[in-house]
Amino acid sequence: MKNLIQINHPLVKRDLSILRDKKTRGNIFRAVLRRTSSLMAYEVTRDLLLRRTKIRTPLEATTGYALASPIVLVPILRAGLGMVGGFVEVIPDARVGHIGLYRNEETLQPVDYYFKVPKHLGRSIVFVLDPMLATGGSGSAAVQYLKERGARVIRFVSVVAAPQGVRFLHRNHPEIQIYTCALDRTLNRNGYILPGLGDAGDRMFGTTE
Ligand code: PRP
Ligand code: URA
Repeated sequence: MKNLIQINHPLVKRDLSILRDKKTRGNIFRAVLRRTSSLMAYEVTRDLLLRRTKIRTPLEATTGYALASPIVLVPILRAGLGMVGGFVEVIPDARVGHIGLYRNEETLQPVDYYFKVPKHLGRSIVFVLDPMLATGGSGSAAVQYLKERGARVIRFVSVVAAPQGVRFLHRNHPEIQIYTCALDRTLNRNGYILPGLGDAGDRMFGTTE
């Protein structure tokens, strides 16, 4: 699929299996999602440009490197929150915006309830974080909002994606690179990814029971 980059690192595959397992409880689910997110952060930043800096070691002057563009992380609430910790562990100077969206259970259309993003998005590389890309409605709405706020370089980072969601996001925003650890088979009639990992937000925050 065009613009889809799958992360196939063995440690990511191992972690994804733990996340998929219905026996994995909330505290372990949160910890593993955070760890996987750090691993994903390496993969999705592989090709970022650097600028040279001048630094002094204790012995002499040498060349150092800094990221050429500022990084902005934008988790889609709620489940995207579970990815932020892992990302900021390896990109500590990233700024963080938030987009609040939930799916209407009947129509599966995204309903928005919160937006707060840093200024100057146009100068930044924006990573949208959401473990689940299902129909693509939420992801597409989030990207649209970020574009309206001036974002020009946006990457969408998911843990599990359905083909329908990848196609929908690509159709609406063809220039966006989509990263995922797994391209799953399909969606069920309630819009859940199969085999998927269930409701990521509920599993993370214990709101199922
Ligand atoms: C989940 C998930 C995505 C969305 C994906 O959120 O975290 O944001 O569904 O589905 P879509 O691709 O069909 O739009 P949910 O609506 O369950 O909200 P929550 O994270 O607050 O539980
Ligand atoms: N949201 C989830 O949390 N899981 C899915 O499978 C689909 C949407």
